[in-house]
Amino acid sequence: MNNFSLSPRMKWVADLLGKNDTVADIGCDHGKLSVYLLQNNLAKSVIATDISAESLEKAKKLAEKEGIEGISFFVGDGFDAVNKTPDAAVICGMGGDVIAKIIAHPRAQTRLVLQPMKDSDILFQALFDYGFSIEKEKIVREDNRFYEIILAVPGKMEKFDFSLAPLDKMICDCDAVAFFKHKKSVLQKAFSSAQNTKSDRGNARAKELKERISVLERVITDVEGK
Ligand SMILES: C[S@@+](CC[C@H](N)C(=O)[O-])C[C@H]1O[C@@H](n2cnc3c(N)ncnc32)[C@H](O)[C@@H]1O
Repeated sequence: MNNFSLSPRMKWVADLLGKNDTVADIGCDHGKLSVYLLQNNLAKSVIATDISAESLEKAKKLAEKEGIEGISFFVGDGFDAVNKTPDAAVICGMGGDVIAKIIAHPRAQTRLVLQPMKDSDILFQALFDYGFSIEKEKIVREDNRFYEIILAVPGKMEKFDFSLAPLDKMICDCDAVAFFKHKKSVLQKAFSSAQNTKSDRGNARAKELKERISVLERVITDVEGK
């Protein structure tokens, strides 16, 4: 038993992760997931990392309080702080653009559970470009927010439109149309801010987002028409 609670989002992360020998919890912050995995025999050892020494300190304190051994702690950027390819890695609660950079590392070629807070389209594109295949995407609604939790494994997948995960891989316990509409509003906001940068990069991102919004609009029309 533990003395802390894991949010529904984090419980799904653990569920998609399954049972592994070594898990890297990259950007572990509070360390709840690292501790939970060991307490529930879902991992034999955990490599807990964070780019911030202060954040990692929270994880160390929690492990100590819970009397958990089996976690190695490292400060560093993404997989630079992980000294071997783990059996699985979790990268949650960061921007999709940040996660996309982290998974470019050769040691990222493993079972991945990813939860982007924004820019999931950038992450989908990176998964495709780096030769991963999306096995599942779970959509979780918690405190009126939608979270996308992606399970990806090494292996080429067919090219898809990056506005959404492939629909046949998506598990949505909540209202799917509400989720698609939410995604559309998120992409629209990203489109406006990309346009406002008035830079070449911003213009290219705005063009990309415009296409992805059109795809989402077609999906919404299709689903609502059924
Ligand atoms: C919002 S917290 C998420 C904590 C936890 N993973 C979760 O989902 O609840 C994001 C954490 O990622 C860390 N982080 C951000 N960029 C990182 C990177 N490139 N490598 C490792 N950690 C990073 C931050 O320092 C912060 O502690």
